[in-house]
Amino acid sequence: MPTVLITGANRGLGLEFVRQYQADGWRVLATVRDAAKGKAAAGAGAEVHLLDMTDGSAMAAFAGRLDGIAIDLLVCNAGYYGDRQSLGEIDGEDFMRVMRINALGPLLLVEALRPRLAKGATIAVVSSKMGSMAETTSGGSYAYRASKAAVNMVVKTLSVDLKAQGVTVVALSPGWVRTDMGGPSAPLAPPEAVAGMRRVLAGLTPADTGAFRHYDGRPVPW
Ligand SMILES: NC(=O)c1ccc[n+]([C@@H]2O[C@H](COP(=O)([O-])OP(=O)(O)OC[C@H]3O[C@@H](n4cnc5c(N)ncnc54)[C@H](OP(=O)(O)O)[C@@H]3O)[C@@H](O)[C@H]2O)c1
Repeated sequence: MPTVLITGANRGLGLEFVRQYQADGWRVLATVRDAAKGKAAAGAGAEVHLLDMTDGSAMAAFAGRLDGIAIDLLVCNAGYYGDRQSLGEIDGEDFMRVMRINALGPLLLVEALRPRLAKGATIAVVSSKMGSMAETTSGGSYAYRASKAAVNMVVKTLSVDLKAQGVTVVALSPGWVRTDMGGPSAPLAPPEAVAGMRRVLAGLTPADTGAFRHYDGRPVPW
C-alpha cells in the first residue's frame, strides 16, 4: 500500500486529497495545525499529525515521529493567501508570514523528511499560476504571487538536488477552486481539481521532474 503525506489536510483541497487517496487504498498521513480541526481527515481514515508550516523546529521532531515510514508521495498543499497585499496598503509582517508558509515551509519540510522518502518518491507542491511570471496580467496580491514564484524556484532547485536520489519534484496549479481561499465564484469544485492533480501525479515519470503543471496536465509557463 503506497503512503502519501498531505499538509493542510483539514479543509479545502487538502481534505479532498485525503478523501481521494484514502478511497483509492493509500495509507494517508495528514497534517493539520489544530487537533480539533483534524476530525474530518481522521474521519476519512487518515492518520492525523499536528504541524504548523511556520514552525521549522517542529519539522525535525515530526520527521522523528515518522521513523520507519517510507513516504511515496508528499503533497505540500498548506497555503495562506495573505491580508493587505494591494499597492498602498502593503503589510510587511503579513508578507513575511505568507512567504514562511508558502515558500519556506515546503523547503524545510522536504529537508526534514528527506530520510523518510521512499525510493522513487514524488514531491508535489501545490503552487498557483499566480506565481507564474508569464501568466501575471493583473495586479495586487503581492505576497501570494511572490511566495508562489519563490516556491516554484524551490521546486526547480529540489528537482536538481534530489535527482540522484530518484525523487521527482513538481509544482501543480490546481485551477481556481471553490474553497475558503478560492471563494464561491470559482468555477472548479475540489473533487474535480484534486482528481485532475492526482491524474497528473499518477502519470509522471522521472523525466518530468522540475515541471510546473496545471490540474488538467497542461504545462504552466514559468
Ligand atoms: N483554491 C484555489 O483556487 C487555489 C488556486 C491556486 C492555488 N491554490 C493553493 O492550493 C492550496 C490549498 O488551498 P485551498 O484552496 O484548499 O485553501 P484553504 O481552503 O484556505 O485551505 C488552506 C489550508 O492550509 C492550511 N494552513 C494555512 N496556514 C497554515 C500553517 N501555518 N501551517 C499549516 N497549515 C496551514 C489551512 O489550515 P487552517 O485551517 O489551520 O488554517 C488549510 O488546511 C494552497 O497552497 C493554495 O495556495 C488554491
